[in-house]
Amino acid sequence: MAMTTEAPARHAIGVAMKRKEDPRFIQGRGRYLDDIVLPNMLFLALVHSPYPHARIVKIDKTAALAVPGVKAVITGDDLVAANLGWIPTFHGYDKQMVLAVGKAVFQYQEVAGVIATSRDAAFDAAELVDVEYEPLDVVVDPFEAMRDTTIIRDDRENKTNHIYHWEVGKRDETDAALAASDVHINEKMEFQRCHPAPLEPCGIVADMSRGTGRLTLYLTSQAPHAHRTVVSLVTGIPEDKIHVISPDIGGGFGNKVPVYPGYVVATAASVILGSPVKWVENRTENLTTTGFARDYHMNVEIGATKDGKLTALKVTTVADHGAFDAAADPTKYPAGMFGIVTGSYDFPLAFTELDAYFTNKAPGGVAYRCSFRVTEASYAIERGMDMLAARLGMDPADLRLKNFVKKEQFPYPSPLGFVYDSGDYHLTLQKALDKIGYADLRREQAEKRARGEYMGIGISTFTEVVGAGPSKLFDIMGIKMFDSAEIRIHPTGSGIVRTGARHQGQGHETTWAQIVAEELGLDPQNILVEEGDTDTAPYGLGTYASRSTPVAGGAIALAARKIREKAKKIAAHLLEASEDDVEWTNYKFQIAGVPEKSVTMQQIAFAAYTNPPPDTEPGLEATFYYDPPNLTFPHGAYIAVVDVDADTGETKVRRFLAIDDCGVVINPLVVEGQIHGGLTEGYAIAFMQEIRFDSGGNHLNTNFTEYLVPTSLDTPAWETDNTVTPSPHHPIGAKGVGESPNVGSPAAFVNAVVDALSPLGIKHIEMPMTRSKVWHAIQAAKA
Ligand code: CDP
Repeated sequence: MAMTTEAPARHAIGVAMKRKEDPRFIQGRGRYLDDIVLPNMLFLALVHSPYPHARIVKIDKTAALAVPGVKAVITGDDLVAANLGWIPTFHGYDKQMVLAVGKAVFQYQEVAGVIATSRDAAFDAAELVDVEYEPLDVVVDPFEAMRDTTIIRDDRENKTNHIYHWEVGKRDETDAALAASDVHINEKMEFQRCHPAPLEPCGIVADMSRGTGRLTLYLTSQAPHAHRTVVSLVTGIPEDKIHVISPDIGGGFGNKVPVYPGYVVATAASVILGSPVKWVENRTENLTTTGFARDYHMNVEIGATKDGKLTALKVTTVADHGAFDAAADPTKYPAGMFGIVTGSYDFPLAFTELDAYFTNKAPGGVAYRCSFRVTEASYAIERGMDMLAARLGMDPADLRLKNFVKKEQFPYPSPLGFVYDSGDYHLTLQKALDKIGYADLRREQAEKRARGEYMGIGISTFTEVVGAGPSKLFDIMGIKMFDSAEIRIHPTGSGIVRTGARHQGQGHETTWAQIVAEELGLDPQNILVEEGDTDTAPYGLGTYASRSTPVAGGAIALAARKIREKAKKIAAHLLEASEDDVEWTNYKFQIAGVPEKSVTMQQIAFAAYTNPPPDTEPGLEATFYYDPPNLTFPHGAYIAVVDVDADTGETKVRRFLAIDDCGVVINPLVVEGQIHGGLTEGYAIAFMQEIRFDSGGNHLNTNFTEYLVPTSLDTPAWETDNTVTPSPHHPIGAKGVGESPNVGSPAAFVNAVVDALSPLGIKHIEMPMTRSKVWHAIQAAKA
């Protein structure tokens, strides 16, 4: 057998490689959920409430059941009888109806399910389910919900719309410092309700096999193991009898973390009918019923000295959670990581508090490309800093440079409890200013202002917190948020790595192979990556909130190092040397100082199966469950340059530069792709997207003609670059990156538009900054 004896000449980390083969097809399990077709498969269609708040008087199934092909019609009462009427929400503060029981609490809420032999028959029959409603008063505004004149959740013991209060920091000292500050801004801002809107909507094929007694769930799941555990806890089916397969997923963005009624009804129907049942939601169902994001109403107070030294920060938030508290946050963090709201700045004092309320809207509050409310927090502080700069008459870049946490202050304990691992904020912003030609742009702006033209420059220098997380602090429903990796090296030196993460297009097939290759000196092209199958992958909490690299990535490196330890024994055996005399150098084991006496990992792998040392177990594999000691804190400096047409309100994003620091970069090409995608979503949020309701609770964005997604023509040309501040505690120094552009960019866009319009006295414009909204703001300012 021909075998290379030379180790790869270069590092696998930091290489912009692409996989040659596409490993997705190897398992032969079909590709996307739509491609999964099983014999005798039935289809589920859901019936939705047209009312945002209504008592359900009667449901008549007769006409629907008469449609040819219809096998069953399931209502909330049927599920209650089967003990499946309500399911727990993720962080345990609340429970959630599967199908409406007694009343519907938001428009489009699922009221019944129809199961039929074809999708068309199911949809036709769903139209014929006759539901009699008695409309109730509707509460759409969380500030009105506060008054408790209409109680939305009368199923709860506490008859109030208030869900919880959360706070962190020093209230009294912060208030005193703000009152004593030379300058004190006190400003309201909203982060509007928006939606992750992944291209592929959510779906399931539930297949209860009466032959094997096993329930197989093909599920568009970002967290297959967590979903298997939830299904077991809710149904009582032992976990070994449940097999969750998360096929290829067409985007998740946090939307595919929660458990949705369609999943439960399809599963219950398959158990009852003994046939596979498929449910794939349509676009309207996705936009109206599945996890929304944001909807934070924030009040930001910042104190500073006359010359711009920060003294204190206070942020007070009212959160609209919709009708169930189904926010997918870790148990101990009801407001997610909102405590990152001090951002990149060295505030001596800070305090933040939040109150969450029920309203007659769909539940959610998912981490949409965001580490649990980091986007809202970053927006608050980055808008706040610009508002303060305007009040002080200071350049927003100078204000930032003056107040950044300094490089030598890391590890930096923030006044709101996080310990930032590493960063060099001055370097990153300076690089951005130099690269974009900031001084020239300000000169150009002054000239344009003199001519009555509206050009704006917006900066956002965010700090993130990703990698949930250390198990002492982070769990979901009690399950600790570690992650895992299992690596098997085959006799000829190729291998497979499986993790508890589940990518939805982030490129784990490539980057995980690179980590294994780097640690073991193997060829990344011959390391297969497999995720998403609970029968084969080790237990982990999945992929969202940019946790994959900080947590699963760490597990992969450490599993590989376990293999390397064993490989050292085999190397010593092959080199006929003592283990103490063998060293790992240049991707090979060699006798210390004698490079010509060396063995490659490929040779060692072959020996592990053909010629292991007498006292050593054959084979070459390892599993590692990684519980990170801390979170990772990526940061970035983003600069947007815009021109606003005062006659039409149209904004042109002329340039957008993103300098990101995600520690050691595994694959620059993958990271660049992540930044481009996230910036495009950030652009959409800033300029186009909002889930809106009228005062009667009617949902106004039920499809893609009303909820806009940017086309390639809308999307600006992104300029990207990076700095590298390794994480000191992560095994390979990497931090997460996927969400950074979505977290950091909205404030840069708004800061730029407000900067452009500041000569008119405009101080703030809420997102989305549609042409019409900007035009109206200009008209109001001129008037
Ligand atoms: O959890 P998720 O995969 O969404 O986010 P991530 O950990 O930020 O990683 C997104 C993609 O970027 C993955 O393929 C990572 O391996 C890659 N990445 C990288 O190449 N270098 C980094 N320092 C961070 C992420």
